[in-house]
Amino acid sequence: MAPLRRTASAAAVLLALTGLLLLVLSPTEAAAGAAAEGGELRMKISDGGYSYNSTLSHILVEYASAVYTSDLTSLLTWTCPRCQGHTMGFEMIEIIVDVERCLQAFVGVAPDPRSVIIAFRGTQEHSASNWIEDLFWKQLDVTYPGMPDAMVHHGFYSAYYNTTLRHEISKSVQWAWKTYGKLPINVVGHSMGGALASFCALDLSVKYGSHEVQLITFGQPRVGNPAFAAYFNDQVPRTTRVTHENDIVPHLPPYFPYLGEWTYHHFAREVWLHETVVGNVVTKNETVCDCSGEDSTCSRSVYGTSVTDHLEYYGVSLHADSRGTCQFVIGSSNSAYSDIVQVDGTIILSRYPQEQHSVESI
Ligand SMILES: *[C@@H]1O[C@H](CO)[C@@H](O)[C@H](O)[C@H]1NC(C)=O
Ligand SMILES: *[C@@H]1O[C@H](CO)[C@@H](O)[C@H](O)[C@H]1NC(C)=O
Ligand SMILES: *[C@@H]1O[C@H](CO)[C@@H](O)[C@H](O)[C@H]1NC(C)=O
Repeated sequence: MAPLRRTASAAAVLLALTGLLLLVLSPTEAAAGAAAEGGELRMKISDGGYSYNSTLSHILVEYASAVYTSDLTSLLTWTCPRCQGHTMGFEMIEIIVDVERCLQAFVGVAPDPRSVIIAFRGTQEHSASNWIEDLFWKQLDVTYPGMPDAMVHHGFYSAYYNTTLRHEISKSVQWAWKTYGKLPINVVGHSMGGALASFCALDLSVKYGSHEVQLITFGQPRVGNPAFAAYFNDQVPRTTRVTHENDIVPHLPPYFPYLGEWTYHHFAREVWLHETVVGNVVTKNETVCDCSGEDSTCSRSVYGTSVTDHLEYYGVSLHADSRGTCQFVIGSSNSAYSDIVQVDGTIILSRYPQEQHSVESI
């Protein structure tokens, strides 16, 4: 909340928040709530053929990292420092930068797994701490269209549905399918980008069928209530929601088991990355959690106290590549890409012609 932010340092507020979290979300209380939840029905829905593919997660996290690149030329040509490793040979189709809301996404075609990749960046608008602090207070204030009981937060919802992102992504997928054949779609995102990726995967699953779409998010917040989570599990069964150790963001906005539909609730399937120590042997453990969405033996078994754990998944850094938040750079060697246009405060760099809008000269 604004008055808080003005009077206290972000760190102090985080501490206070953490204290509040400890009060409302002690692991034992949370476990009792999960037991009372009775997830039998959801189990059947979300179990439909789910399997965690660790290799795939290790590859896709690199796209979730690369989308933070602010040098758009090196991103377009896939020569950025984060455009190496498992992602070599990626062909960019379109980059979308929502300057006003400080969001960034891209669509392209990957060699392995051969698929259309859609990646969303988390917000860099304020410092990570400020953004996380605000997460605590998000209200469930929008009914998901066509689902009377399903509630989400308008900020998450409209960042995807009420911006140029949705339209551009949809166009780029169509163009990719026309050019490369009907490849499956992998949607990825970290943090706020994970929330956007969720809405995108849901949108595309409803449009094209759930067999075409797979979603992997890293450290995403909760985005909707239990009814929304159940609907989501049904529509996007091939979902992996990766959490890491004590990452604070998956604990937010808080889950209150006794509030029925008036609480946030994660969708399945969580995979919790954490280290297990036996004697003096440290094992990296990738725990596949149950299909309730709120498995009390996974990240909910620990306190969400860490921002550091939020910024790294599978050893890959997931945050802006420069100190300046929300900046971007466009160089002059974009001739491979037909168009750079500006629509409603959004910059679009694409490989295929953009029709109606004026072309910016650079
Ligand atoms: C997991 O993903 C990798 C990378 O796309 C793929 O090569 C492998 O076949 C997948 N494994 C399974 C069991 O699907
Ligand atoms: C969508 O965006 C427009 C213009 O930015 C705004 O006036 C409208 O209230 C927004 N709608 C929602 C549901 O957020
Ligand atoms: C991995 O973690 C789970 C709990 O999340 C635990 O039950 C399991 O024993 C751990 N595996 C190893 C190899 O330590």
